[in-house]
Amino acid sequence: MGLRELFQDHLQTLQTETAKTLAELKLDGLVLSAGTPAWYFEDDQNPPFRSSHHFRHWCPMEGCQHVLLFIPGQKPELRLYQPADFWHEAKPFEPDFWGDSFQVQIIKEEDKLWEGLAQGRRIAYHGPEVERARKAGLLVAVEGLVPRLNWQRLVKSPYEIQCLVEATRKAAAGHKAAERAFRQGGSELDIHFAYMQAARSQEQDLPYENIIALNEKAAYLHYAAKRDEVHNGKVLLIDAGATSRGYGADITRTYATEDAPEEFQELLTDMTTLQAGLVAAITPNILMGDLHVLAHQRIAELLIRHKIILDCDAQKAIDLGLTMAFFPHGLGHMLGVFVHDVGGKQLDREGAVSAPDPRFPKLRTTRPLQPGTVVTIEPGVYFIKMLLDPIRQGPNSRNLNWALIDRLMPCGGIRIEDNIHIHDQGIRNITREFLP
Ligand code: GLY
Ligand code: MN
Ligand code: MN
Repeated sequence: MGLRELFQDHLQTLQTETAKTLAELKLDGLVLSAGTPAWYFEDDQNPPFRSSHHFRHWCPMEGCQHVLLFIPGQKPELRLYQPADFWHEAKPFEPDFWGDSFQVQIIKEEDKLWEGLAQGRRIAYHGPEVERARKAGLLVAVEGLVPRLNWQRLVKSPYEIQCLVEATRKAAAGHKAAERAFRQGGSELDIHFAYMQAARSQEQDLPYENIIALNEKAAYLHYAAKRDEVHNGKVLLIDAGATSRGYGADITRTYATEDAPEEFQELLTDMTTLQAGLVAAITPNILMGDLHVLAHQRIAELLIRHKIILDCDAQKAIDLGLTMAFFPHGLGHMLGVFVHDVGGKQLDREGAVSAPDPRFPKLRTTRPLQPGTVVTIEPGVYFIKMLLDPIRQGPNSRNLNWALIDRLMPCGGIRIEDNIHIHDQGIRNITREFLP
């Protein structure tokens, strides 16, 4: 199917689902808007603009201030803001694959964007322009609306999968170039530029800021600096994505040179196998919480096998909180318009959420992985001083091999992250199709 047909199907599903939501909430229609740019404090400069997420779910048009009106039974109306401006170019409307799915109006004046939306009807609004919506007579903060909109985001349409595939293709090119730059001795900044060039992306196109960490900096989960003074790293952890039509890939790889301690290289090899095993363990409707527990079991076994954890079995290592010190984040999350996409705990369209998993109460993603969802699987093992020091000084100190940990500390850590589409027949590892 071509992109046009994929998009038409996507929008048709959205309209059917939204019509159901509106009927349940006794509403006549829904307005979403792209939003307005933010400004730095007392400055005339603004951070890169990103359209609001539910608007992006409906429409791939870039730029700000657009307004979308959906009334069940009518073609969705799209009011595109295209001011007369010789300082900036508003992205021109080119009726691409998606254009004819909307009734499009080009609007030059800001005031007219919100005119005549309500007309005495019960039209709900969800988005960042609450005051404008109120003035336009729209209903804001309608109870029950947001969970239903989020619910529609969980199962990805074939169009959305196609967007994620294209984002992955760009990111994979970036990752390959980044690995080359790392092996040639490049700095974090060199690796970043190599990534950006190959991914054909600008900073504002990225779904999140690139994490490019050499050596010990890999122990910061969201390390953001791009050091230019450190070259010839022994370890690279790179967590970097790319976007396509507002959907983002989220991919992590860890590489080690032959100069890295042998124990680290072996750990990396086994973590790669462990990550693949967790992906293979996904079955439709498995609870993300159960997969997270499995990850802790396998990481415990790995750390025992590598003689990092001593004198206890896997279950005891988990119960003592030892694995938590090496793997302190969740195994993965929903992926889509947001990198950490909505609905990770949601159980039904009305907004019921799963109870916290007593084994890991802080997990953000606990829901069953139903067919149609896309998740990341990103186990890690890190050497984080802040988390290890209390164990070193506490009663369980004898259960960790400090001499080895001290040797591995300068390597930072390992994370391997793929994006997985769960479907009726099983799973599709989108990332591995482009980045082995
Ligand atoms: N890149 C952020 C994450 O992996 O969740
Ligand atoms: Mn992730
Ligand atoms: Mn990531």
